[in-house]
Amino acid sequence: MTDRPVVELAGVSKTYGDVAALRDADLVIRRGELLAIVGPSGSGKSTMLNIMGTLDRPTKGTVRIDGHDAASLTDRELSALRAGTIGFVFQQFHLASGVPALDSVADGLLYSGRPRGERRRLAEKALRRVGLGHRLYHEPHQLSGGEKQRVAIARAVLGDPPLLLADEPTGALDSRSGAVVIELLHELHEAGTTVVVITHDRDIAATLPREVRVKDGRLEHDSGGAGTSTSLVPEEAVR
Ligand SMILES: Nc1ncnc2c1ncn2[C@@H]1O[C@H](COP(=O)(O)OP(=O)(O)O)[C@@H](O)[C@H]1O
Ligand SMILES: [Mg+2]
Repeated sequence: MTDRPVVELAGVSKTYGDVAALRDADLVIRRGELLAIVGPSGSGKSTMLNIMGTLDRPTKGTVRIDGHDAASLTDRELSALRAGTIGFVFQQFHLASGVPALDSVADGLLYSGRPRGERRRLAEKALRRVGLGHRLYHEPHQLSGGEKQRVAIARAVLGDPPLLLADEPTGALDSRSGAVVIELLHELHEAGTTVVVITHDRDIAATLPREVRVKDGRLEHDSGGAGTSTSLVPEEAVR
């Protein structure tokens, strides 16, 4: 089924001390969607992504990932769910200096139990997929910003997770490299990955099939896409 929810937030709030970073958010993201979460700096986008990605727990509300209620899982079970389901891409590429691209990507499978040769073979395939077959042995300082982000994307999609969460993936790039990265995210989406792009750039958001606008911690507008903006699917339908 392609329209099964992969992320469901119901009444999700997050407060940090007296800062309400996210207020009563309801959002359903279905398998196969490509959407933007857009809003000004400080509006709660990263907070929402961290909660969707189970990197952080909400103060209030329900988070379901691929049908699993995140609150009912231990930290260990959550890490396992995350490892099998979600790839992350961040504005800063998080590549270790001095490490060749092939190893940076292959290290994403370090705890997968796969032998080193196979990890490297899969890493090479992922790097070819993002158009970096000619940069396998380059270290971060030998790569452009756009290339670094493509290495980070190769690492994120290595295990073929159904869900890719990208937090300002073009935020550190010039507009041309940014366009290449967005194009790559479109390709991954066409190949079946559900892709969530967080951005403060309204022009980028406008090019994606669904746009969810966030302001002051609230979801202000949802252009809809394949999902519904207001109601959660009944629990029975998720199972
Ligand atoms: N760990 C934290 N501790 C305290 N305040 C935080 C923390 N993370 C985010 N905030 C605050 O929550 C609000 C939303 O932040 P964030 O989700 O990072 O916004 P965005 O990603 O849209 O720029 C901001 O006011 C920010 O300062
Ligand atoms: Mg942010």
